Amino acid sequence: MTDFTPLPPTPTLETQRLILRPLAERDVPAIQYIFPQWELVKYLSATIPWPYPANGAATNMAECLEKRARGEQFYWAITLKGSDDLRGRIDLWPLPADRRDMRGFWLDPLLHGQGLMTEAAEAVTAYAFERLAWPFLYLTNAVGNRASARVKEKQGAIEVGREPFQYVSGEGEKQIWLLTREAWLARRA
Ligand SMILES: CC(C)(COP(=O)(O)OP(=O)(O)OC[C@H]1O[C@@H](n2cnc3c(N)ncnc32)[C@H](O)[C@@H]1OP(=O)(O)O)[C@@H](O)C(=O)NCCC(=O)NCCS
Repeated sequence: MTDFTPLPPTPTLETQRLILRPLAERDVPAIQYIFPQWELVKYLSATIPWPYPANGAATNMAECLEKRARGEQFYWAITLKGSDDLRGRIDLWPLPADRRDMRGFWLDPLLHGQGLMTEAAEAVTAYAFERLAWPFLYLTNAVGNRASARVKEKQGAIEVGREPFQYVSGEGEKQIWLLTREAWLARRA
């Protein structure tokens, strides 16, 4: 990794209804409470332990904070304005050598279907394209994960491929999307 440039610290981002702030150790209890739900995990990577262990959130938090300290990945806690409580998470990272995938997210099911993840994704995408000047984002979801696919469609991403992938719910197919900076800026103009 001779050309590795560490990412800057995760900035706080604001949208109409949300504050996206850097993920923090104090978020562990909220994650351990919200995250272990089948509808949240079924379309996530099989690398997530399931059934979710009692120390799952703490273990994952330690890994995230280490990766962030090394400048490898951004991690935001999604909070509703007026409360600092974590209600979801959105992550962003530069294109890895081994796969076309640069973002991940999940949201408390109590908040689904209100356009909140689209709002968070737009803020993170603005950061990637306008502040970091990244030329594109590769995005993925399980083919059956229509809600996640819909977020990509709403952002103007184009499907560019499908590949087999292991999900918590078993063998599946991954949908790969490309969102270019040019297309995203043109849509927002
Ligand atoms: C994916 C996820 C983050 C979306 O969050 P959200 O805040 O509900 O998303 P939004 O409201 O911004 O957009 C969801 C869109 O999907 C649509 N949708 C939801 N379920 C759907 C379904 N079963 N079929 C078709 N469309 C569906 C919604 O109607 C909405 O589209 P619209 O605005 O055109 O009506 C949320 O469902 C989640 O946390 N899922 C579990 C974790 C996960 O799968 N993460 C992504 C891994 S790739």
